[in-house]
Amino acid sequence: MNIKAPRGTQDLLPETTERWQHVEEKFIELCRRFNYQEIRTPIFEHTELFQRGVGDSTDIVQKEMYTFTDRGDRSITLRPEGTASVVRAFVEHKLYGIPKQPTKLYYSGPMFRYERPQQGRMRQFVQFGVEALGSEDPAIDAEVISLAMSLYQELGLKSLKLVINSLGDSSSRESHRAALVNHFQPYKEELCNDCQLRLQQNPLRILDCKKDRNHPAMETAPSILDHLNEQSATYFSNVQNHLDRMGIDYVVDKNLVRGLDYYNHTAFEIMSDAEGFGSITTLSGGGRYNGLVEDLGGPQTPGIGFALSVERLLMAIEAEGVQLPIESNVDCYFVSLGQRASDEAVRLTYELRKAGVQVDKDYQDKKFKAQFKAADRLNSKYVVVLGEDELANNIVNIKEMETGEQVEVAINELVPYLQKKLQGEK
Ligand code: HAM
Repeated sequence: MNIKAPRGTQDLLPETTERWQHVEEKFIELCRRFNYQEIRTPIFEHTELFQRGVGDSTDIVQKEMYTFTDRGDRSITLRPEGTASVVRAFVEHKLYGIPKQPTKLYYSGPMFRYERPQQGRMRQFVQFGVEALGSEDPAIDAEVISLAMSLYQELGLKSLKLVINSLGDSSSRESHRAALVNHFQPYKEELCNDCQLRLQQNPLRILDCKKDRNHPAMETAPSILDHLNEQSATYFSNVQNHLDRMGIDYVVDKNLVRGLDYYNHTAFEIMSDAEGFGSITTLSGGGRYNGLVEDLGGPQTPGIGFALSVERLLMAIEAEGVQLPIESNVDCYFVSLGQRASDEAVRLTYELRKAGVQVDKDYQDKKFKAQFKAADRLNSKYVVVLGEDELANNIVNIKEMETGEQVEVAINELVPYLQKKLQGEK
């Protein structure tokens, strides 16, 4: 039997997980600086959450969900995104009632979408995301965007393009919707089957269609920006003013609509324009969703957030040739010779580890030379040698690999000696 990982999933092997941990740590550290706190929600939810939250007419709900009936006859779905779950938890635990407002949350974890896999598009992928609930201040829109941009920039990415748009409030969208229906109706027969349906259900999504992208009617489609009422237009220009003040470059794209139904006002995506990044250029996306909390049974509460996938983030890092500061070495390797020395090495490695020193030793009965080779392979900074002679004299021999310098140290001085040496390096 030759069982492989399912299509659209991947194993992350140790050399890769170091990179994942690095970007994860950066994200968490950044969220701490922006004062966002972590929330963890289940990986599966009641299907209805996504039907109502993400929207019945979206591709995600119609075509991409991993949905199954559990043994209790409930319809369950592996989460395709994080926002609906965060909002569900916000409502369920009445987080709107706690004094600390707005509620600023971050999350990271696997999401599942049954999409056609290709580079940067997986069936299981990991999202980092943030959601800020309880504020309708354009400054918090700018804050969320700046957090996303900071993550990419602080990791060393340069070829970034921030694209923003406004989807307006509900009255602006109603007026735009009517204009879109009027505009596309004469071309209905020329549009793809999905878009023919979208024309009634959600005409905005026609603008995001991959199949009809080159239809001439797309070019001339009415822009949401021409349908923003005064309040929505002011809101959008305030978001832009904040971005300008922060020195964050962006372009306004009137055709940016996003693939989920809950958005209004600010929508944004960050793209990579690095050469060799591949055909899917979107690194992350987000926006404002002022109706979602209410739709999911909570009090009217505005919200904004974004999410990115780690897979695409790491692809961009690779495409731009950014070297992450990942050290692949160990502090110390223990080489021993003879049974008694080897037994003592077991105790001493444990003492070193308890004292915070990273140390490894041989567990395959390797010869002296082969143990040194193993130390080399691990790129060990120090090698501690303990043979019968050393043991008899209660000493170890410590070799600093970079300089070749060797010293003899009393066994009971080994821990403080290495601690001091390693601390001196930092
Ligand atoms: P989304 O645009 O569907 O938005 O996904 C956000 C990001 O997740 C994308 O920009 C992309 O980096 C990544 N992504 C999506 N699908 C895949 C896939 N199949 N393989 C790899 N990466 C993928 C959301 O999910 C919203 N919840 C974002 C949000 C948060 N809006 C407000 N708050």
